[in-house]
Amino acid sequence: MTTSEQIFDTLVLPYLNHAVRMYEADYASVSDIDAGMRFGCGYAQGPLAVIDELGAASVRDRLAVRYAETGDRLHQPAELLEKLAAESGTFAALGADAGTAAPELKRDIAKVGVVGTGTMASGIAQVFAQSGYGVIYVGRSQEKLDGVVGYITKNLDRAIDKGKSTEDDKAAVLGRLTGATTRDALAEVDLVVEAIAEDLDVKLELFRDLDGICKQGAILATTTSSLPITQLGAATDRPADVIGMHFFNPAPVMKLVEVVTTPATAADVDETVKALCAKVGKVAVSCGDRAGFIVNCLLFPYLNDAVLLHESGVELVAIDAAIKETAGFPMGPFELLDVVGNDVSLAIQKELHGEFKEDGLAPAKTLEEKVAAGHLGRKTKQGFHSY
Ligand code: CAA
Repeated sequence: MTTSEQIFDTLVLPYLNHAVRMYEADYASVSDIDAGMRFGCGYAQGPLAVIDELGAASVRDRLAVRYAETGDRLHQPAELLEKLAAESGTFAALGADAGTAAPELKRDIAKVGVVGTGTMASGIAQVFAQSGYGVIYVGRSQEKLDGVVGYITKNLDRAIDKGKSTEDDKAAVLGRLTGATTRDALAEVDLVVEAIAEDLDVKLELFRDLDGICKQGAILATTTSSLPITQLGAATDRPADVIGMHFFNPAPVMKLVEVVTTPATAADVDETVKALCAKVGKVAVSCGDRAGFIVNCLLFPYLNDAVLLHESGVELVAIDAAIKETAGFPMGPFELLDVVGNDVSLAIQKELHGEFKEDGLAPAKTLEEKVAAGHLGRKTKQGFHSY
């Protein structure tokens, strides 16, 4: 019998350790790491705040027990954790003086383009239209464009049913959406956010095309969660205008946007995108162009560990329940895998394994099998759970 506490220690402690290593490596600030997990995954607290609450010494001791069992470097308490434990230090103190001024819109953004018609593209179109922006969304067929309207209509109908919106609001939001089946429609937009297939060649072709179509000064943003944005920028003659805007699923609900700059991204583009995020009710965090950014880098190894734990004989439902109870996460790992899609999760885990070259990040066998069997999650009505 595996207890809830054992499940917590197996899945959550390595996640906390990983967050410490991310800060240690100077990849992101204390506040951006914590905001990432709070606003990207709906956690009540970020991992570094959780360590402060549990006490660095307690987390270090429990991790040391796990490390003795597994010998996996990912479970070896991070050096900074050892230091904080020895000095009774906190991440709150480390992150205390990092205040920054509110970003401003350095470029005018009146009209937004969205490329793609899937869940993320539809959600992003909804976010901008709900904030009053005219949105031109581009898809490959009228049927796909209708799917975007269907997704947004369903969300707005649900809000109306709950008394949180009205038919007038819905008509106004839908009225701001203009569908198009050719990219030429994006000639006059001030910002394009693309959320098409997660395939480098497909995105490179799109960026070359956008470079020829969009007016000078337009910001070209990608929602990629794993592809090198620097390469997308290099496919254009305006790499300074290319940036990552990584939204989370479901985009209308999750407040986070990871704003990913490449070495070529102009400072005014970065600032404008951050200001725009605030305008549409999102929280922006800063990331460098590295696989997984903040959130996926911390989230997916934890999800993969959950699959490994299940492979060792612990029931899915017991793991889901224990995590919600002990960690207070809004969904158990298998519920979330089914929302994200096992195909997407496997692709992200492979990217992370390739980037960080840690054996402990190798994708779990069952995750590979689920994808091979076409059990992708909610979208196929069968994933780890059945729908
Ligand atoms: N689209 C739009 N709105 C939705 C929605 C959807 N798919 N699902 C739920 N909502 C809305 C509901 O209408 C409701 O709105 P109101 O509060 O205005 O009434 C609100 O979200 C809460 O929904 P529910 O009460 O039905 O359900 P809940 O309390 O269980 O919340 C949840 C649902 C917000 C999705 C919550 O479970 C959650 O935060 N889950 C974690 C999701 C997560 O971790 N996402 C990150 C995945 S990783 C990723 O996206 C990155 C990547 O690159 C793959």
